[in-house]
Amino acid sequence: MSPDLLETRLTDRQSSIAGRARGIAFGIDIGGTGIKGAPVDLATGLFCEPRRTVATPSPATPQAVARAAAELRAGFDGLASVPVGVTVPAVVRKRIVRTAANIDPSWIGIDGQSLFDEAFGTPVALLNDADAAGLAEVTRGAAQGEPGVVFVVTLGTGIGSALFVDGRLVPNTELGHLRIDGFDCCPWASAAALTRDNLSWADWVSRVQEYLAFAESLIWPDLIVIGGGISAEAERFLPLLQLDAPVVRARMGNDSGIIGAAYEAHAAALR
Ligand code: BGC
Repeated sequence: MSPDLLETRLTDRQSSIAGRARGIAFGIDIGGTGIKGAPVDLATGLFCEPRRTVATPSPATPQAVARAAAELRAGFDGLASVPVGVTVPAVVRKRIVRTAANIDPSWIGIDGQSLFDEAFGTPVALLNDADAAGLAEVTRGAAQGEPGVVFVVTLGTGIGSALFVDGRLVPNTELGHLRIDGFDCCPWASAAALTRDNLSWADWVSRVQEYLAFAESLIWPDLIVIGGGISAEAERFLPLLQLDAPVVRARMGNDSGIIGAAYEAHAAALR
């Protein structure tokens, strides 16, 4: 190993040790319209500073998005040493981005891990956005300490899913893309469908009911947690859902991706 690389590795290691000692990690959530980030106090799951948002570059090519995310992070002072986690709305398996349902198709097949490591100049934890949202709920939110099978669903532009067995994530489940009668549920029952298809609230709820009942018939969760921005209006639709498992509102709302990314960064720094 060259002396320069050795020095970089040592600096990375010292950084992550310093971040851990402070009990803070930085989370970044990449979405179709905005990139949001904030430092998270790992003991409480709360932001140490208000989150900041920048517009997702257009076109949202991997390089442009990674650069914007790194700049967002660099705008926070005094946090250079804390671990960083980043979410993408896509499957990330063994460093590689495998899907691009609501992002630029040029993401498919790229080495997302190297892309973000290089943009940030330090190793980052890279994961699916719904998996991150689920991690936040299981670690500090509505499913904290919940045994058995927990199904976290995020209703937004698409439908994200995160599946946990005794608190352990089964990554990249993509259960938002279950098909009913040959049609992908992801656009059909997402929160975006409400306005896109000009639906009444009752019509949208019946789509969500059909989607969740179908998912339930396949995985039989012990608890269903509903997240995404629309969960702020949970009282308007959760009481109408008729499912076998209890259904609860996510507690971290739209911040769950950032918070889960921070917890994943922390876990990755310990590995
Ligand atoms: C993607 C998922 C993502 C979800 C929420 C879906 O279209 O396939 O990977 O988690 O949207 O952003």
